[in-house]
Amino acid sequence: MTLFESTVRPVLFRLGGGDAESAHEATLNRLAGLGGLSKALLRARYSTTTPVELFGVKFPNPIGLAAGMDKNGVALPAWPALGFGFVEVGTVTAHAQPGNDKPRLFRLRDSEAIINRMGFNNAGASSLAARLKDLGPLDVPLGISLGKSKITPLKDAVEDYLTSYQLLHPYADYIAVNVSSPNTPGLRTLQDKDAIAGLLGALVGKTPVLVKIAPDLAETAIAEVLEVCLHYGAAGVIATNTTLARDGLAAADQSRAAEAGGLSGRPLTEKARKIVHFVHTETGGRLPIIGVGGVMTADDAARLFDAGASLVQLYSGFIYKGPALVRAAARSFAAARP
Ligand SMILES: Cc1cc2nc3c(=O)[nH]c(=O)nc-3n(C[C@H](O)[C@H](O)[C@H](O)COP(=O)(O)O)c2cc1C
Repeated sequence: MTLFESTVRPVLFRLGGGDAESAHEATLNRLAGLGGLSKALLRARYSTTTPVELFGVKFPNPIGLAAGMDKNGVALPAWPALGFGFVEVGTVTAHAQPGNDKPRLFRLRDSEAIINRMGFNNAGASSLAARLKDLGPLDVPLGISLGKSKITPLKDAVEDYLTSYQLLHPYADYIAVNVSSPNTPGLRTLQDKDAIAGLLGALVGKTPVLVKIAPDLAETAIAEVLEVCLHYGAAGVIATNTTLARDGLAAADQSRAAEAGGLSGRPLTEKARKIVHFVHTETGGRLPIIGVGGVMTADDAARLFDAGASLVQLYSGFIYKGPALVRAAARSFAAARP
């Protein structure tokens, strides 16, 4: 067990009264409040420089923070100090919205997993734009993840994404089109060929646009998405979002299996890797891949790179293992490419 797991994590998990979402909010607030000295000390300990250039963007290292951790960008300056080579904020929607009823975030400790049904709780695209304007440029590339507002009917989805895109693309190094969250009714149908074509036709422009896909899609459906991505000039694919499956849970977590929502962490590792491999072989490497899902160790990251990912993101692994995982993953990448 690392120092983080034995001493820091138990404290963080109990912050804010101990339920998972309050602890998450309290930790974000602490990160947002870090002073310059704390950030400099963290940076000295955790930052790794192993530069990668992809879709015209220079990344100081290829390990990023996945979408959903810092939806409104409240702790943005802290993430590079914790070693991340890029950050994806959001998912944000054109309309501010509260998300689903609480509780909606569950830790499955023995499985190193999380179930969430947050439902895109966020302050809205214009609020994020104002925040990013105030902050000025970050130390690392910024991805901005866009989703559909719950109140917007599916038939008007393109307009809804476009509203957010127009407000936010000036601040983004890339835009992620999230059509794969299981927690907004109907959202995943936007992965259908015609729907994704409509979205990409409207959004692809100067700012690189990547499509984030679900791990539950059949290979034929993924192949269709890839075809559309290549046709419309998408900059890449982010694979994968959380899964609706419940395989791979420890006995102690079986009682949680019935919670609705997306599962992430260790049970997703192999599935995400297989999908990254499929995308890589199907496109002959023509479409850059950000690999995400169940990266809990440096070896998991190395295997995701080997499967075809050019960049890797962490969410659940960061919750369970802390910033040492970011550093270890970035170093394993460097070691494999001397
Ligand atoms: C609490 C929580 C909230 C999330 N919110 C988002 C989101 O808003 N947008 C998104 O694209 N993915 C979201 N995700 C999915 C993650 O970005 C990532 O794709 C997924 O968790 C798999 O990675 P992991 O196994 O490292 O956690 C969320 C995940 C969690 C656990």
